[in-house]
Amino acid sequence: MKRPLIVAIDGPAGAGKSSVSKTLALRLGFTLVDTGAIYRCVALKAKRSGVAFEDHAGLQALLDTITVTFRMDEDKNHVLLDGEDVSEAIRSPENSLAASRFSGLPVVRNALLDLQRRLALAAEKGAILEGRDIGTVVFPDADLKIFLFADPAIRARRRFEELFQKGHEKPVAQVLADQNQRDKEDSEREVAPLKPADDAVKIDSTELALSDVVHQIESLVAARR
Ligand code: DC
Repeated sequence: MKRPLIVAIDGPAGAGKSSVSKTLALRLGFTLVDTGAIYRCVALKAKRSGVAFEDHAGLQALLDTITVTFRMDEDKNHVLLDGEDVSEAIRSPENSLAASRFSGLPVVRNALLDLQRRLALAAEKGAILEGRDIGTVVFPDADLKIFLFADPAIRARRRFEELFQKGHEKPVAQVLADQNQRDKEDSEREVAPLKPADDAVKIDSTELALSDVVHQIESLVAARR
């Protein structure tokens, strides 16, 4: 059977991955797999179930039964944790930091590999996976790999505005400090650190509009089809 076209979009938080991936998925009719949301669901479920970071047996049990699915609306990619819509709950600042910590654990990363691959391979036409290690670990043979990055101050400003709109008021300096901490944890961890794949196309979104990035990637997808 022919495999769906796999597009990996990796990069740090705030580089524009989510907006770009969602717009692309809608335009191309591809399935969108937001892998960060899966790590966020694990962190949320661990908190709710009282499973501590150090309790690897408890975590394994949680990972054996967790279900994460996505439902794309016109304006939003809804995230369902065991059937419950947790799209907002997983994005609180506390859960963001927790997700970053949990994502450093090999037990968590290994358990989620299969889920990420299954979600993508079930796509009819193609799948866009956004994350940190898609092009390096999850789909090293992806048809197209993008590494999207931007200046840290710009990324923090974008994140500040996003949080502000959702009613989370946090000084931009604090957003930048949290972001630096997550960047450090994401890039320095031993398992699957954040880094561009050798064959990734690197796009700096600091000075680019969302639509410019989308158009660039769309032409790259068209060339691979
Ligand atoms: O993309 P995001 O901010 O929603 O991701 C949440 C956390 O999950 C982030 O701190 C890093 C981690 N993550 C990861 O380690 N690997 C991925 N493929 C996606 C996210």
